[in-house]
Amino acid sequence: MRLRRVLAVIGVVVLLLCTVCAGAGVWLWNSQVISTADEVDFTRPLAVPPLAPSRMESGRRVFDLKAQAGTHDFGHGQTPTWGFNGDVLGPTLRATRGEQVQVNVTNALDQTTTVHWHGMHLPAAADGGPHHLVGPGKSWSPTWKVDQPAATLWYHPHLHGETAKHVYRGLAGLFLIDDPATSVDALPHEYGVDDVPVIVQDRKFDGGGRLDDTPGFMSGVGVLGDTVAVNGTVGPYLDVTTERVRLRLLNGSNARVYDFGFADDRRFALVGTDGGLLSSAYDTDRIMLSPGERAEIVVTMKPGERAVLRSYPQDLGTGPFGRFTGGADTLDVLQLRAAGTLAPRPAVPSKLVEIPRLARADAVQQRPFRLSGHAINSKQMEMTRIDFAPERDSVEIWKVVNNDGEPHSLHVHDVQFQVLTRDGAAPPPQLSGWKDTIYLPGDVTFELIMRFSDFADPNTPYMFHCHVLFHEDAGMMGQFVVVPPGGKPGVIDHPSHLAHGGHH
Ligand code: C2O
Ligand code: CU
Repeated sequence: MRLRRVLAVIGVVVLLLCTVCAGAGVWLWNSQVISTADEVDFTRPLAVPPLAPSRMESGRRVFDLKAQAGTHDFGHGQTPTWGFNGDVLGPTLRATRGEQVQVNVTNALDQTTTVHWHGMHLPAAADGGPHHLVGPGKSWSPTWKVDQPAATLWYHPHLHGETAKHVYRGLAGLFLIDDPATSVDALPHEYGVDDVPVIVQDRKFDGGGRLDDTPGFMSGVGVLGDTVAVNGTVGPYLDVTTERVRLRLLNGSNARVYDFGFADDRRFALVGTDGGLLSSAYDTDRIMLSPGERAEIVVTMKPGERAVLRSYPQDLGTGPFGRFTGGADTLDVLQLRAAGTLAPRPAVPSKLVEIPRLARADAVQQRPFRLSGHAINSKQMEMTRIDFAPERDSVEIWKVVNNDGEPHSLHVHDVQFQVLTRDGAAPPPQLSGWKDTIYLPGDVTFELIMRFSDFADPNTPYMFHCHVLFHEDAGMMGQFVVVPPGGKPGVIDHPSHLAHGGHH
């Protein structure tokens, strides 16, 4: 009798525990989904990064960038931040194809950083990767000739092991390339008026209003924020005064992948990707951008209306746990407010620019890249290892696959590539133009084709890596040097005592 009662009690307790556990599981599962749909108060005017002043000095267009500490209002009081020439983010650099540019980078922080020109075709010595350390109080003045199609590029630190932290604190900005031959006058092009930078970054704050970069539960990709800042503005609106507005979208986030669309599902024209305009405008209602990727879109507005740019849930191609990496989230990003009367703007032409296609037959080298376990081809980043050495002016095909079901991407320095195939088929329109960063859903093989023109330097490497910054910092990166035809890779001379933010 007594035994039965004890067993019954145990049974009830076990049942209760199971219920609690299952409840906790369900709660945890659901708690991994963030939605701010229709919940953001768009009360702050969108900040537009100023165009960086420049001057001509012995035939060079010279810019100054100073990395400095400051504070910024993200709606959580004064949050400590870093910025270039200001408290957060940096000015927009702008140069024309054919110009020789020089950027005087000064570091007024109390630790070492670097500045990398993401998407730029330039000599490795000017690239600003993890070898080009700028110590506190020091400066660095790379110079190069801008020689690539009109595009929306960007700049950010690239300090090995600490890129995530430096970008998250606010060090990033745009670098726009102009080129009459590869731009289209009919597209909106008045900076800050109908041609507007949209740097999207998710942020998380601790109780004291400081930036919190702790990774989410089971995220595996590092920090995912529940607050979206655009150009540093939280809850931003943009006053639109023209019938059409061009948004230059940059996913400047550490880890989050966005699938941009509008709350009313209106269509828009995708006109450009990482390395320039597309050959023809693509009419769509969504554009997915992983960290580091850019898209130029043109949105048509009616007088007096409002439209909300939103990031929708998406299939990250990483299996049922995509929600732990933000795949199930809905985030309201930016409100467009059209004035009562709008200045006319021409329709988006369907044909945009000529893109010379790289052909399979041009390639002299094929290389496989398997991204898995914070490594590429089972190797982790080492500052002095050169993984391979393409010859100057040669064309190569890189066969790339994400093999571990976590969100990964591949970014290649120096070049803009074309996607030859995605899973054996021709790429979709959004991958048909110049790219320097590509999102890799699990187990989908991409063939990327690229030419290593112009710059050879056997001793100074370019990077290739996953642009999920937590993965990059963890070692999911490698190095290549471009050698002259018939040349051999040299030796990387790295000041390794400086490798982790050390001091001179
Ligand atoms: Cu945007 Cu190697 O980086
Ligand atoms: Cu990755």
